Amino acid sequence: MTIVSLNKEMWKCAACGERVPVTEPLSWRCPSSQEDDRHHVLLLEQPLAPLRGTGEANPFLAYRKYLAWDTFAQSLGLSEADRVSIIETSDAAIAAVDGTGFHTTPFGRNDALSDALGFNANGGVWVKDETKSVGGSHKARHIYTELLHLLALERSGRAPWVERPPLAIASCGNAAFAASTLAHSVQWPIKVFVPDLVSTELTDLLQSVNAGIVRCPRLSTDPPGDPTVHRFREAVKSGAIPFGVQGTENAWCLDGGRTIGWEIADAQERESGPPLDRLFVQVGGGAFAACLATGVYAGGLRPALHAVQTAGCAPLQRAWVNALAGGGSRNAGGRWSECMWPWENVESSLADGILDDETYDWVGVCNAMADSGGSPVVCTEQHIVDAYALAHKVTTINVSPTGSAGLAGVLAMRPNIADDERVVVVFSGVRRQFMPLPK
Ligand SMILES: Cc1ncc(COP(=O)(O)O)c(C=O)c1O
Ligand SMILES: [Zn+2]
Repeated sequence: MTIVSLNKEMWKCAACGERVPVTEPLSWRCPSSQEDDRHHVLLLEQPLAPLRGTGEANPFLAYRKYLAWDTFAQSLGLSEADRVSIIETSDAAIAAVDGTGFHTTPFGRNDALSDALGFNANGGVWVKDETKSVGGSHKARHIYTELLHLLALERSGRAPWVERPPLAIASCGNAAFAASTLAHSVQWPIKVFVPDLVSTELTDLLQSVNAGIVRCPRLSTDPPGDPTVHRFREAVKSGAIPFGVQGTENAWCLDGGRTIGWEIADAQERESGPPLDRLFVQVGGGAFAACLATGVYAGGLRPALHAVQTAGCAPLQRAWVNALAGGGSRNAGGRWSECMWPWENVESSLADGILDDETYDWVGVCNAMADSGGSPVVCTEQHIVDAYALAHKVTTINVSPTGSAGLAGVLAMRPNIADDERVVVVFSGVRRQFMPLPK
């Protein structure tokens, strides 16, 4: 296993080019990111090849050496035994709260789905199943490297606090539940900023892991934009630690998010047969697609990335078109305002977890699509409904409508996919009890 220039790992801002060493404590945002200008995002520059895990079940142990966190923790003077112990101890605490700690999630060809969609024996649909991951979705993978960052500071005696500052997240979905689950497992206080009209099913879920819920009505003094984000940023300004899944607010979520891609790349390296052709990934804020693709590509594979959005909320597709028109879709971060701005009239969807009006991590997603010959896919609401129904009809995976939205992208593009192509979807979130089954 060769890891190239680990010590030279850097964050580089995709907008202004500023570099920040991964050894810098509390390096959440680009130093030039401002209160009223979040058009900066730190991306990892980490050359890797080839990719091979240790075989341990916990991906954070199996791929620990590839994590920027490992370099960070090492720079604090923590030995390999200390670093392993931080992961093992926190994972045991997570398992005590969640029933299961981090583990490599199932991945393989789903024959029933492949048949239902008319693929032949050489092609098909490969499903990565995240529904039984920590917190019931892929989100905890992202947030865990933010937590590990804090735990490493504490273990090394370098934490700048006496009393732990609260964690903060603006979300009412899977990310909030994942963040609250992780926080609860290490007894770290967390404030979850939720919309004023959030449903009781969601607040009950959050309360089950002791989250400090803060309802956020729109204030007359508020500037345009989401009041939960305003309150979240105010909390961060007063010392809270950003603990969410937007690279623009805390870049460290982009480290652990790659484990899902590394697992796929590793499984592919071990399996003989033709390579994967396409990855269909549902996109909300974009961190998921960006990390999944960089993780897969780290192993040298380059299946085309298709970022899936609904027609009623497709800011990424608009950014892609604008970036192409304005000089190219790769490294378009310097043209942020010309490419990405909030979608004006977000239409509701059964896949309500991907209705972020802004794709915060759009630069990483566009880079991955450009590098792989991919493209965005905008699907109809009917595709979303049909994908959810199909997933429940032919598989045994209890996936949510947002979790099956990548499959909606496959349905939308199926006429342009050959029968022998190998496509990947991620069933990224579990159907919770309050979510109706498809009719
Ligand atoms: C189940 C599920 N899949 C996908 C996503 C999209 O992830 P991202 O917001 O990082 O694009 C979300 C976001 O809430 C989600 O809950
Ligand atoms: Zn910057």
